[in-house]
Amino acid sequence: MSYAKIIGSGGYLPPRVVSNDELAAELATRQIETSDTWITERTGIRQRHIAEPGVTTSQLATEAARRALDDAGVNAEELDLIILATSTPDYIFPSTACLVQAKLGNKGAAAFDVQAVCSGFVYALATADAFIRAGRAKTALVIGAEVFSGILDWNDRSTCVLFGDGAGAVVLRAAEEPGILDAQLNADGSQMKILHAAGNVVGGQVTGDPFLRMDGQAVFKMAVTSLANSAQSVCERAGVALDEIDWFVPHQANVRIINFLGRKLGLAEEKVVVTVDKHANTSAASVPLALDAARRDGRIQPGQLVLMQGVGGGFTWGSVLARM
Ligand SMILES: CC(C)(COP(=O)(O)OP(=O)(O)OC[C@H]1O[C@@H](n2cnc3c(N)ncnc32)[C@H](O)[C@@H]1OP(=O)(O)O)[C@@H](O)C(=O)NCCC(=O)NCCS
Repeated sequence: MSYAKIIGSGGYLPPRVVSNDELAAELATRQIETSDTWITERTGIRQRHIAEPGVTTSQLATEAARRALDDAGVNAEELDLIILATSTPDYIFPSTACLVQAKLGNKGAAAFDVQAVCSGFVYALATADAFIRAGRAKTALVIGAEVFSGILDWNDRSTCVLFGDGAGAVVLRAAEEPGILDAQLNADGSQMKILHAAGNVVGGQVTGDPFLRMDGQAVFKMAVTSLANSAQSVCERAGVALDEIDWFVPHQANVRIINFLGRKLGLAEEKVVVTVDKHANTSAASVPLALDAARRDGRIQPGQLVLMQGVGGGFTWGSVLARM
């Protein structure tokens, strides 16, 4: 039986950085009031990266993928599986994974998108792990990538200050030793209304509301309860005590959710990777971007145990426990 081991990671953020002050000044020109103080106190976000008009998810994803492949020392031709998590695909079809495959110069790998909003990367990683464990793939590229700025209502201050654009990726390879120890994915579709973008294309026209809408307090409550339970159950199944975890890499939506979870799980603050201050919420890209940041600055070391968690629209949530 094979395990899936993370052998490389990469991240890419579009170069334009928008601070809270800049965003507040821009919104003020449309009589929308917000402030750096409100955003920082409620969310921990200080800035976000925003893609220039016309920049697509596949472009950000390809940059992150190249960096992950470089880091892993793997050529794109060696990949036999590409899974890309996004809610902001370039097209209705083909999948953004196929567009990235072509840009990387790979032919023949299975390539498809996963749609689980902010849980997307964790869903994609668990799926790639299952392919590798079953012997159906040997070398997989898993990407989370978003241009969320395109689905934000910039007149809705309760959502537009929270998100940013970016992409993160990992390369997995079949190995004799773990690797990914266990994963758990969950969803509750009856809660779809607390976080959704309920638009659709009919007869070539957008119908419904294509912008992200959210009941922030409902999402906050659902996120902390579901993630705490998910962490406990994935660790129990893997036979790992919570205090054995070296690094906690949660979805980066709000530092208050992250701190609350860290405390609830009894994880010391120094073990928690936080990038939400610099990246804001990049949805499916947030976990791989945070993982990559902590690998590259030397915090996450080979052999260490990492708990990754995603949560978001659907409602969806999930955990992946990995030995690096
Ligand atoms: C969105 C969130 C930051 C809002 O914080 P909150 O403490 O719940 O704030 P509320 O929604 O109760 O709003 C409080 C007040 O701030 C106002 N407000 C909302 N957005 C604001 C902004 N950007 N700037 C200034 N004021 C704002 C509201 O209008 C409200 O004003 P009122 O009291 O006069 O009605 C918080 O609910 C949250 O983080 N939820 C989770 C969201 C999330 O993580 N989503 C992604 C999951 S993948």
